[in-house]
Amino acid sequence: MHDFHFKNNELFCENVKVSAVAKSVGTPFYLYSYKTLTDHFLKMQRAFARINPMICFAMKSNGNLAVIKSLVDLGAGIDIVSVGELKKALRVGADSKKIVFASVGKTEEEIAFAIKAGILLFNVESEPELLEINRIARRMKRQVQAALRINPDVPAPTHEYTNTGSLKKKFGIDLRTTRQIFRSQKKYSNVKMSGVHIHIGSQITSGGPFVGAIKKVAAFIDDLREEGIDIEYLDIGGGLGIIYKDETPQTAQEYANKVLPILEKTGLKIIMEPGRFIVGNAGIFVTKVLYLKDNGYKKFFIVDGGMNDLIRPSLYDAYHEIVPVKQTRASKIKVDVVGPICESGDFFAHDRLLAKVNKGDLLAVMSAGAYGYVMASNYNIRGRVPEVMVRGNKFEIVKERETFKDLMRGERLPRFLRTS
Ligand code: LLP
Repeated sequence: MHDFHFKNNELFCENVKVSAVAKSVGTPFYLYSYKTLTDHFLKMQRAFARINPMICFAMKSNGNLAVIKSLVDLGAGIDIVSVGELKKALRVGADSKKIVFASVGKTEEEIAFAIKAGILLFNVESEPELLEINRIARRMKRQVQAALRINPDVPAPTHEYTNTGSLKKKFGIDLRTTRQIFRSQKKYSNVKMSGVHIHIGSQITSGGPFVGAIKKVAAFIDDLREEGIDIEYLDIGGGLGIIYKDETPQTAQEYANKVLPILEKTGLKIIMEPGRFIVGNAGIFVTKVLYLKDNGYKKFFIVDGGMNDLIRPSLYDAYHEIVPVKQTRASKIKVDVVGPICESGDFFAHDRLLAKVNKGDLLAVMSAGAYGYVMASNYNIRGRVPEVMVRGNKFEIVKERETFKDLMRGERLPRFLRTS
């Protein structure tokens, strides 16, 4: 499942000691395994080989150049949500004909840049957005392709914030409006309506919601055909859950077994947008114990990483396994693992049973490869931590730690506050 394992009580990433990386780059830091990352992509590719889908890695989950280049080199396309992501994808040589662009709020500049870059599909999230894309494409004298993102209004058992397939949420277009748009295609002279797109949410561990949504959309595609409306692509989004604690998510093969028959029947070219499934378990966050604190009521491990580095526990109450980088025989105690940030929400674990550690010991927060670094901030004027990639017995920094100079870039006092 992943390539982080203990050998002689020491945590390794592939063949590299995590403690050796810490010694070299300092703490905290993110550490990625090239092998885990690429294995997960290949697993998905193999499971769906029968239909040879375009697998567009959702780079919002991890936008590091090394991560996306590793996948692009294996033939991955990219699912983007901003012009920044598009520029990074192009920087590593992603094929623009394998790039799909979803976002409920694409700006004029983003649309124009994506048209110029010649992306495969705009995954369109509203009628006004479609009108805007058409207007800009006409102005640029270009013909572009769009997939309408359908909001299938199906329940997805996941955190409220990562559930996107219900009409209570801002995402996608309801079925009735989608049908109307397809019927009035002529209105959009510079946009070819080439597909439909769904993405019902993230960290969904069972197959039912995916099957439900895909069936609903397949029936809709059949209806369109009866009206003489033909499309080319069906983009089924991402959302596959992974193991953080004791979840029993479906494997790529189990997922494929469930949805392949429905997908094959559509006869369409299939696009997928996995993020977390590919990179979630391919990364860890490593942090150092600064202090042990006991306030008479609770015990705390105070570490040098904070919610600004990895916000998932604070934002979603997400569970991440925490392991000491060096295993000892120390007895276990119930602790909160907390960071230095000035908020009670700054925690990695509450009431967790962990082996007693000492000041200076390293802890690994597991399964932090997806939505970890990309959601980091500079809160409390803390520089973003480095990202490091391991391959075999070698490691390299793939993003440097931010310095104070980085943090000050572009900031200045107004004239009236300058003293000299
Ligand atoms: N496609 C679209 C249109 C998406 O919005 C997303 C994720 C994906 C694909 C990839 O989903 P995945 O396969 O990674 O589940 N920050 C949250 C997750 C937000 C997901 C946003 N959209 C977290 O840390 O759990």
